[in-house]
Amino acid sequence: MDSLKLILVALAALWMVYVLVDYLVPFFYGLPAKPTRHARIRKALKLAGLRADETLIDLGCGDGRVLVIAAKEFRAQAIGIDAGPVQVARAWANSQFNGVSAQVQVRWGNFLKADLSNADVVFAYLTSDYVPKLETKLASQLKPGARVVTISFDFSNWEPDAFDEDELIFVYKMPPHAGDLGTFLLKRE
Ligand SMILES: C[S@@+](CC[C@H](N)C(=O)[O-])C[C@H]1O[C@@H](n2cnc3c(N)ncnc32)[C@H](O)[C@@H]1O
Repeated sequence: MDSLKLILVALAALWMVYVLVDYLVPFFYGLPAKPTRHARIRKALKLAGLRADETLIDLGCGDGRVLVIAAKEFRAQAIGIDAGPVQVARAWANSQFNGVSAQVQVRWGNFLKADLSNADVVFAYLTSDYVPKLETKLASQLKPGARVVTISFDFSNWEPDAFDEDELIFVYKMPPHAGDLGTFLLKRE
């Protein structure tokens, strides 16, 4: 009986550590640990024109759902980078469970230090606090023709090439052109 209690206490402690790490890492980076809805991901990848065999990089891949959809439904190669060890483990398990591990790589680290030069599509569900750092990095590292697709935040100095107002999805083709959402909407009228 005592050993059963011990096992239960150990399991509860492990679960608490898991939940704490799961929520604390995104919190320290100033983000909610909130995944993108599946339908919104599909719409975003379609809007970005992700094609088979292209490489997608998800900046902060969370539970890996973007990677799985990119690999399974768009037949792309998908790389996820996350600072949270729990997120990395979940993303890896998710790709195994969905049978797409050959197309998916998950890396533990800070995406601001990662080399993004091989990306055809960069996916980001972050906040506008990241814009100053990401603007310089993406503009200098991404190849011409690469697309950046953002959820819920936009680049205030770049004019989007596509915009979905229902789902707040923005797509930017590299190299970026000066402008903003306002200049894009003016041209669309
Ligand atoms: C809002 S979640 C988005 C998860 C996933 N991309 C999605 O759309 O479902 C943001 C993720 O970014 C990660 N993150 C935040 N800043 C990071 C950084 N500088 N480097 C790596 N990961 C980061 C967090 O741990 C969190 O998992």
